[in-house]
Amino acid sequence: MSDENVVERRNKRAAKVQHPKGKLTAYERINLLLDEDSFNEIDQNVTSIENPDGEAVITGSGTVHGRPVYVYSEDFSVMGGSLGEVVAKKILKIMDKALEARAPIIGIKDSGGARIQEGISSLYGYAQIFKKNVQSSGKIPQISVIVGPSAGGAVYSPALTDFIFQVQNIGQLYVTGPAVVKTVTGEDVSFEELGGVEAHGTKSGVTHQVCETEEQVFEEVRYLLSFLPQSSFQKPPVFITEDDSKRLVESLDSFIPNNRNLPYDMEKIIIDIVDDGEHYPIQGNYATNIITTFARLNGNTVGIVANQPLELAGVLDINASEKAARFVRFCDAFNIPLLTLVDVPGFLPGVEQEHGGIIRSGAKLLYAYSEATVPRVCVVIRKAYGGAYIVMDSIGLGADKLYAWPSGEIAVMGAEGAVDIINRKDLAKSEKKDQLKAKLVAEYNEKFSNPKIAANLGLIDNIIKPSETRKIIIDSFNELVNKVELGDKHGNIPL
Ligand code: HXC
Repeated sequence: MSDENVVERRNKRAAKVQHPKGKLTAYERINLLLDEDSFNEIDQNVTSIENPDGEAVITGSGTVHGRPVYVYSEDFSVMGGSLGEVVAKKILKIMDKALEARAPIIGIKDSGGARIQEGISSLYGYAQIFKKNVQSSGKIPQISVIVGPSAGGAVYSPALTDFIFQVQNIGQLYVTGPAVVKTVTGEDVSFEELGGVEAHGTKSGVTHQVCETEEQVFEEVRYLLSFLPQSSFQKPPVFITEDDSKRLVESLDSFIPNNRNLPYDMEKIIIDIVDDGEHYPIQGNYATNIITTFARLNGNTVGIVANQPLELAGVLDINASEKAARFVRFCDAFNIPLLTLVDVPGFLPGVEQEHGGIIRSGAKLLYAYSEATVPRVCVVIRKAYGGAYIVMDSIGLGADKLYAWPSGEIAVMGAEGAVDIINRKDLAKSEKKDQLKAKLVAEYNEKFSNPKIAANLGLIDNIIKPSETRKIIIDSFNELVNKVELGDKHGNIPL
């Protein structure tokens, strides 16, 4: 149990360092994260010769929405939150406790990295933490909150966890800081430009959630936890909802534009069908051609993967494939059923994508879906062409239920490309090439660009009225409720 006087003294000291920098103290952060008065600190009396008044991390347990969680919060006011032997021991101990108790662990990161004075023993500490992150992966949810520097090799502990939250202006991740960058490459770059929220929330995809303030970040971590189970041995919590499971959404019957090449906002469909229109996008600013988001259907958590036609026509590229693959694997590890909404014209063509490894990245998404044993329901909203049709949770990969809207187009490729290939000779001979092509495209669309052939072959279960989507997917997940196999399945390797 905490000694109030010790906490007060340390908090006062930390506030002097943190508040002028616009940052909260380690204790203040824990209090924002946890339910009121629920924090039970451990190892409060563990000190070191250099820091007789307490080391650079606070550890303990508490509750979030009444459920137990474990937490460690780095204290930048003690030697820059740097990690030496004692700090590493405290962190490892709390990680062990979380794993034994099968409860989530949240690491609040604000540290200058390996404690330079302790040399190799601090590196050894990091190595042990990394290994513990991996041992815990896929067993308990692991969340990192970046509210200070996370420098050098220290970035790899967050990177091994399931979700990274980052606060703008104060939270930065980088393997080598601006000074080293300047020496090695000559580039002039600020801390925020190099490793801030724009860099990692939008460009690198390292960060899953970007927040403006510390108050917001801990509120969001609590919100994320509300979707998650305590561990791989449990199902996510069920919420009571007033949103009718049989609710029809009439507007969806006329939602898809008549012109099949016009974009629309897939997020609107998600909002229309989930409970109370509420969902929580993961990596919402990164690879925006695919949406990965948590929501609830009839009170139960689902992970939704959906192509976004508003961005790059919803095409699958390297970043989108990896973003979706990691999300699918997280959901599978933690017993979260998957809903996939498809409108994908294909994989993004081009030298950059090929040489960048789109084959390897696309294979990750194929692997993730093929491996997933959670209930899987897929709805083809519009385009589902070629390899991209297969990869977006097709029956062949093991989807439990696959539906299509009447606007669904399930084919080897789109009409334009198909006509160019199968009618090449006719088109070459024709004097009215454009007219002929338009006619052939119309014929192809009439014949192939609809869900009927797939339905006739049993490759989709049914063509459904868009307005009935919510009701039908809730019925489908109800039917599959006992499919979930609780227990450890696999880790959540950073893809
Ligand atoms: C020991 C450290 C420290 C460290 C900071 N401090 N980092 N002490 N080891 N790694 C101390 C400072 O000496 C200072 O002490 C106090 O913390 C606050 O630091 P400041 O520099 O005054 O703060 P600020 O200006 O906010 O800058 C923060 C910073 C900077 C950007 C993090 O301190 C910095 O660049 N630190 C080194 C970061 C780094 O390169 N780490 C990588 C180490 S290698 P006083 O007594 O003056 O208050 C690594 C490898 C891990 O981490 C590998 C794992 C596999």
